[in-house]
Amino acid sequence: MTDEARPTRFDLRSMPGLAKIGMTALLIVMAAGFAASASHLHEHHEGRDERAGFTIDDIRGAYHGLRSEAPLRRAMEAGHPADIDDATPVPDEERQVLLDWLRGDRISEDYDDLDLGDMAPAEIIATNCLECHSRQAGPEYEAAQAIPLDYFDDVKKVAFSREINPNPPEIVITSLHTHALSLATLSIVVSVLLLATRWPAVFVGLVIALTGVALLADVAGQYFARSTESLVWLIAVGGAVYVGASSLSLLMVLADMWLPAGRRPRRPDVRPHD
Ligand code: HEC
Repeated sequence: MTDEARPTRFDLRSMPGLAKIGMTALLIVMAAGFAASASHLHEHHEGRDERAGFTIDDIRGAYHGLRSEAPLRRAMEAGHPADIDDATPVPDEERQVLLDWLRGDRISEDYDDLDLGDMAPAEIIATNCLECHSRQAGPEYEAAQAIPLDYFDDVKKVAFSREINPNPPEIVITSLHTHALSLATLSIVVSVLLLATRWPAVFVGLVIALTGVALLADVAGQYFARSTESLVWLIAVGGAVYVGASSLSLLMVLADMWLPAGRRPRRPDVRPHD
């Protein structure tokens, strides 16, 4: 094969300087867009589970819906405070009253219902819990004081189970149709650029494989998590891997463009003595 007949391979390093400058600027804009979407996502979903911070429960709430048991009910079902040293267990009858109250849907109404007399939840709590769960309790009950139960305003914070409905299907579809198309297109472009770099083919292949599979997992998760709760993890892990692999790709492309050119890459398709 003569020199002219060699198959030409587009490689980033041999781009003219001006093209490199333009390309670098575009990649920076792309990275900024990426960062902006990530922070939008964070803000958009962070409050979803009615708790501070962005956690897997926020994603679960948005794509599957979330039910979680009230801490008070969980504690009663677990036999608390019998788990605490020296605590007097709640008598069975009173525990049952608390459980029925917490499982019902009249939590506010029945809390201090006068007709219930000593069997009103407020009374049972005063007798059995305030020894530890009160702002007035001694310093030895610090852990319990963090969950005061003195007033209904305190009790209601731990008495209600949460139920969060997922985004309606139309919203998920609308969001998918823009994100699936734009992210896949963006990643194809970055992958093609990555293939035109000097980095070892195996490594480039791995990064592209991760990018593609992670985006597919994330998108599939967004669609199917509604019916299958465990797929919420596909969204979380897929999304994280996708962002990681994409950032790495951008860095690899930029580095290849600006690092000294060095030796031409060896081409497996060109044998030296042809
Ligand atoms: C002897 C002291 C004591 C008594 C009595 C007591 N608790 Fe507690 N309770 C604690 C302590 C200590 C903790 C913190 C345990 C921990 O952090 O593991 C706690 C934790 C809790 C929690 C939080 C559990 C969670 O999952 O976060 C709830 C709710 C609770 N108690 C409700 C009650 C109720 C209702 C009563 C009365 C029926 C009661 N407690 C009686 C000491 C007590």
